[in-house]
Amino acid sequence: MSSTLDFDIKLSQNPTPQQERERILANPGWGQHFTDHMITIRYSADRGWHDARLEPYGPITLDPATQVFHYAQEIFEGTKAYAQADGSIVTFRPYSNAARFNRSARRMAMPEIPEELFVRSLELLVSTDRDWVPRTEGYSLYLRPFMFATSRALGVQRPSQEYLFMVIASPSGLYYPQGIKPVTVWISTDYTRAAPGGTGEAKCGGNYAASFAGQAEALEHGCDQVVWLDAAERRWVEEVGSMNLMFVYGSGPDARILTPALTGTLLPGVTRDSLLKLAPDLGIPVEEGKISIDQWEADCASGKITEVFGCGTAAIISPVGGVKGPGREWKIGDGEPGPISMRLREELIGIQYGTRPDPYGWVH
Ligand code: COI
Repeated sequence: MSSTLDFDIKLSQNPTPQQERERILANPGWGQHFTDHMITIRYSADRGWHDARLEPYGPITLDPATQVFHYAQEIFEGTKAYAQADGSIVTFRPYSNAARFNRSARRMAMPEIPEELFVRSLELLVSTDRDWVPRTEGYSLYLRPFMFATSRALGVQRPSQEYLFMVIASPSGLYYPQGIKPVTVWISTDYTRAAPGGTGEAKCGGNYAASFAGQAEALEHGCDQVVWLDAAERRWVEEVGSMNLMFVYGSGPDARILTPALTGTLLPGVTRDSLLKLAPDLGIPVEEGKISIDQWEADCASGKITEVFGCGTAAIISPVGGVKGPGREWKIGDGEPGPISMRLREELIGIQYGTRPDPYGWVH
């Protein structure tokens, strides 16, 4: 059956020349270059998962009536492969991404993929394109599994009966090329990201499509990212840009972390989850709760909040230095990356690159 599906392997006849690949790996940017191969697996309601392939990376041809173009049944994941000092390559918590992918699939009325098949796809692509995993510290091979509706039909009475699952890989440098310079964030009051009962906790393309207008608004106000408030009261802080948010209260041995709880409108980040496990083991208690935008401002004014950072697979930890919104503006701490943010970042990166032990069994 599908979990024992064999991949049909067709290697590229004209892979990127080594010199060109090395030129790209020296300065990969983010999400701009792709490796020589990709994974494709088909699903149909009558056959289940079938036709698994590793094939040369390249364009795919789709009928204009393909459902995804019209009704956006599409989900994706993001995870990374890291080169270790001994030359081996690991991925980070791929089963967590597989599980979240299937939760997203259920919300979007799409078929679930066996976790084993999802992870085997990542392994096969990474091992085939292993020369594309950057060796530079802080760089990685970003893996993008995704799935979309491929039935050729405009009816909306039922979800697509056919899907294509794919994985592509992109050598990646730092998500923010300016390094870990704190970002400033814009409180969007015109737009929200997710409503109760909506798709906020699914990693579907539509959530990101709907976020671009808010992101553009942030840029217009001289900010880097949007702060998303809850849709019902426009009061509770949920996420920043495409990242989860963490608030550091206090400092030194008294530091503790507050992060918005997963209420159904937030994306359950794998980095968020990792930090919630890692921080207490470093003596930093964590709490999942609620914080309003007014509380955020007041707690910065009183000095209770010492650091704030966004966290996600792409940027790992991204300190927030300042907040702006209609008629208001404040700084967090001295606007520089704080010691707790940097410590957590180092610990997590250490596990990912194998320079620190992994008591959690996260590296794969
Ligand atoms: C992440 O933080 O990994 C993201 O979700 C960003 C990605 C959509 C580029």
